[in-house]
Amino acid sequence: MPRLIRLDAVGPFKIEPAAFPRDDQGNLKPIFICACGLSRTLPMCDGSHKACRAVEQPGILYTYDPVTRQIIDQRPA
Ligand code: FES
Repeated sequence: MPRLIRLDAVGPFKIEPAAFPRDDQGNLKPIFICACGLSRTLPMCDGSHKACRAVEQPGILYTYDPVTRQIIDQRPA
């Protein structure tokens, strides 16, 4: 299910290892990087992918509004 999302960044996100979450024993916990492009907390996943997973259908190209993250267009992929 392809989607178009306008992003304005012109460089990478920096994630400092010191910011990685740890459990009570000090072990590193997993971090989840957004792959859908809809997160409001890029590069981290914020759960927004659940919205696209729930509505997008195979074979359709979806365009999302960059502010509201709502679908504003859909057409055959
Ligand atoms: S993968 Fe994009 S918000 Fe979770």
